[in-house]
Amino acid sequence: MVKICCIGAGYVGGPTMAMIAFKCPDIQVVVVDISAPRINAWNSDRLPIFEPGLDDVVRSCRNNNLFFSTDVESHVADADIIFVSVNTPTKTRGLGAGKAADLTYWESAARMIAEVAKSDKIVVEKSTVPVKTAEAIEKILTHNSRGINFQILSNPEFLAEGTAIDDLANPDRVLIGGRETPEGQKAVAALKDVYAHWVPEDRIITMNLWSAELSKLAANAILAQRISSINAMSALCEATGADVSEVAYAVGKDSRIGHKFLNASVGFGGSCFQKDILNLVYICECNGLIEVANYWKQVVQINDYQKARFVNRVVSSMFNTVSGKKIAILGFAFKKDTGDTRETPAIDVCQGLLGDKAQLCIYDPQVTEEQIRRDLVTSKFDWDHPQHLVVPPGSPTSNKNDTVRVTGDAYEAAKGAHGICIMTEWEEFKLLDYERIYQGMEKPAFVFDGRNVVKPEELRKIGFIVYSVGKPL
Ligand code: NAD
Ligand code: UGA
Repeated sequence: MVKICCIGAGYVGGPTMAMIAFKCPDIQVVVVDISAPRINAWNSDRLPIFEPGLDDVVRSCRNNNLFFSTDVESHVADADIIFVSVNTPTKTRGLGAGKAADLTYWESAARMIAEVAKSDKIVVEKSTVPVKTAEAIEKILTHNSRGINFQILSNPEFLAEGTAIDDLANPDRVLIGGRETPEGQKAVAALKDVYAHWVPEDRIITMNLWSAELSKLAANAILAQRISSINAMSALCEATGADVSEVAYAVGKDSRIGHKFLNASVGFGGSCFQKDILNLVYICECNGLIEVANYWKQVVQINDYQKARFVNRVVSSMFNTVSGKKIAILGFAFKKDTGDTRETPAIDVCQGLLGDKAQLCIYDPQVTEEQIRRDLVTSKFDWDHPQHLVVPPGSPTSNKNDTVRVTGDAYEAAKGAHGICIMTEWEEFKLLDYERIYQGMEKPAFVFDGRNVVKPEELRKIGFIVYSVGKPL
């Protein structure tokens, strides 16, 4: 039986390994993590992440051929193939702060693998890493190898949160990069065999290590670029009376462009787009490619602009002041069907409104009050000027926590509010009884739809003043 161990039981490690175990009953999969609470949750009825369909997959193979453990070293020692799926956040200090990927967790995992390995291993980069990371990992492993052979593969993950199970079961492609030596190609074939259990052969693409590493950064950069492109257009639509949905539809009808990922919004969030683009920017700068770096930087700058523009719209529409006014925030997760709030635009919008002294009442069907409060008091740091730590207006030091309430009900959030900001495209926000909501609000009642989920005309008929991103006012 092939034995797989995955280091890192997060949003990628957990679902990816669950799918491998589900599709490959002949393979034993152990997911390990240094976080005991995370592993305990994976072993419980309440998984640590909310992802549609994940519970069923985990339940069907947990404790058969899928295991979750904190016993990192013994499972790593035991495995033939080791996936490393640890977090690779943006560095906040030192060289490259604000842009470069922080590989501390990766390096410590690699050193641990070298220390405990007693047999040859295939080490798979699952985390998103800077191009050429495999070379650094190879150095750490071979210089500490005591005669053991390590093959490093790049196998970046393309799943999106909220649709992870479907993305894993029916991937557009699986990418495997390896060394072009006979040993490297043997390792590539071994990993290909795993995926070939359910992924059609023509969707498993093999290539050199550096192409595979860079393809992941390129894919995220180009996806985010589409969003920033349509968001930039949304500003022009608002200035001219064009409708961004119509423009996106017309543009997307061109089969060379396609219709996906052209939804204008308050801005993209999630743990990866910004981090990976900044990582790309840093790599370009290190290679002296300043013009290329500046090109990609602009994608993140437009995203920041879009979030700031949204806050300005709210404040300026409400007679230039939201001081003391209750504003309902519907949705806090960075997209629907996830409880993940990493880099969610809701944080920036809430902090912007709190900076203007608003009173917020927040509702999200999947995000806990504890998480929301933690997010709102965590100092952000300005990626473009990493020496500047932005202390949020709701932080304990500014003593304004009473300005935020979190509720378990959208109607409660909107009761007595002057305005509603829709921050996440949860399906339930399309189905709310807006007539009822309107009756309970202060007048004039505003809706600021950051995800274009409501029908502005219908809400205007009720009496709301509606702002939708990129739509005529
Ligand atoms: P995460 O923070 O949810 O999970 C990472 C886990 O690794 C954590 O549970 C942490 O405790 C654990 N960990 C860190 N160091 C460890 C060590 N030395 N030993 C054992 N465990 C350790 O992160 P994630 O969202 O799963 O992302 C992981 C990687 O995958 C990142 O590089 C990310 O860019 C990439 N990625 C993420 C997504 C996504 O949708 N979240 C999609 C594709 C790729
Ligand atoms: C994204 C990519 O889609 C995945 O392929 C990739 O594996 C992953 O990043 C990663 O590397 O972490 P994810 O961030 O989970 O996945 O979710 P997306 O669906 O890409 O959405 C990202 C953000 O963009 C969300 O805030 C979403 O609301 C926003 N978005 C998306 C828009 O504003 N408009 C769109 O048209 C699409």
